[in-house]
Amino acid sequence: MGRPRYTKKMAEDGRRSYEWARSHMSILENTISRHKKAAPLRGVTLGFCLHITKETSVLLMGAKSLGATVACCGGNPLTTQDDVAAFLASQGIHVYAWANQTPKEYDRCIEMVLGHRPSILTDDGADMNIKAHFDDRFKGLEIHGATEETTAGVTRIRAVERKGLLRYPVILVNNAHTKHLFDNRYGTGQSTIDGLLRSMNLLMASKRVVVSGYGWVGRGVAERCRGMGSRVIVTEVDPVRALEAHMDGFDVMPMSRAAPLGDVFVTCTGMSGIIRREHMRRMRDGAVLANVGHFDVEIDSRFLLRYRKAEVRPGLDECRLPGGRTLYLVGKGRLANLVAAEGHPPEVMAQSFSNQILSILYILKNRGRLGNRVMDVPEQIDRQVARDALAAMGVGIDRLTGEQRGYAESW
Ligand SMILES: NC(=O)c1ccc[n+]([C@@H]2O[C@H](COP(=O)([O-])OP(=O)(O)OC[C@H]3O[C@@H](n4cnc5c(N)ncnc54)[C@H](O)[C@@H]3O)[C@@H](O)[C@H]2O)c1
Repeated sequence: MGRPRYTKKMAEDGRRSYEWARSHMSILENTISRHKKAAPLRGVTLGFCLHITKETSVLLMGAKSLGATVACCGGNPLTTQDDVAAFLASQGIHVYAWANQTPKEYDRCIEMVLGHRPSILTDDGADMNIKAHFDDRFKGLEIHGATEETTAGVTRIRAVERKGLLRYPVILVNNAHTKHLFDNRYGTGQSTIDGLLRSMNLLMASKRVVVSGYGWVGRGVAERCRGMGSRVIVTEVDPVRALEAHMDGFDVMPMSRAAPLGDVFVTCTGMSGIIRREHMRRMRDGAVLANVGHFDVEIDSRFLLRYRKAEVRPGLDECRLPGGRTLYLVGKGRLANLVAAEGHPPEVMAQSFSNQILSILYILKNRGRLGNRVMDVPEQIDRQVARDALAAMGVGIDRLTGEQRGYAESW
């Protein structure tokens, strides 16, 4: 299909989306304003592989305003918002992203970004970092470091480190408290509901929703579905998390038992093969399947899409299995909250992206000194983002008194 022509009208629509998001991302705006005068990114090329949404446009424009040359591609073949891409391109950002890419086009776009020879990479799922490590064409790049936005990318980049193959430091932005406790939980929780409503627009109250994985994403989705009146079942493999789900009041059971019970299924594990054909064969007629884990490996969508009859609503495929049972798949089994909706709301992305921009500045400031390892976001950054977020929401908190500090340090 190839890149669509970015028209003036698209760029104008994208600008409006950018301005709307920006006006709700004061945490990020304040972070950027604090550094603007020094323009610390002047002369630095940054490569971003992130979902191109209105929230991401605020990050990219912010990086540019700090002096960076910015090149970006989508974090997934299906999640780019074309009007936002058009707006960014109109602002002098090198954009290689459009909606509904083939996997080959998606791959090629990552290469185009790396072709700008960025010295710091910001990744979401590790596709760009993997290419920078293992594709001979990019082995010569001088990269000071990278940041990783999501749990699935953390898993992959840790595997590279375990093999002793890491070429530069990678800061795990996902693992910052002010990221995963909020973005993964509240952001994905809300935008998953949005994706389900836009794609199926059925009543959530009374539906049996099966949520796979009770990590940060899963608990956000489970809690929000419960808030909508759904009866939620959780499937897990981790005994502690299963126990938490049980004590939080959810039914917990294996997928083999949940499969015939669910009206709606949402996978949130970061693991492959969660809903397999043997489960699908036992599901109720009309069940809806959605995935919000990073990769499209959680639901066997290749099997399901073999029986695709029609797109009955935007982002919702009807699949008629042999024997007459019909199942519906949201967003082809890819990130339902981004493919069928717009992804996380701006307020929560402002926290994640403040961590991103501060981590990028940290890498730059400490280049050559961090070692080839994965590392957490420095605590002072995490706490700064929490303070900024509280201030943006007008929330005040107490400070320890001198007596309390003394008490904490005494035995
Ligand atoms: N859609 C989005 O916008 C978005 C946002 C953030 C994270 N993510 C992605 O969501 C996924 C989950 O992220 P997280 O932060 O919740 O991770 P997490 O590690 O906190 O939670 C994953 C949970 O899945 C469980 N799990 C693993 N295998 C399972 C199986 N076979 N059956 C049932 N449960 C299983 C794990 O025990 C764990 O509790 C990752 O792929 C992450 O990249 C998506």
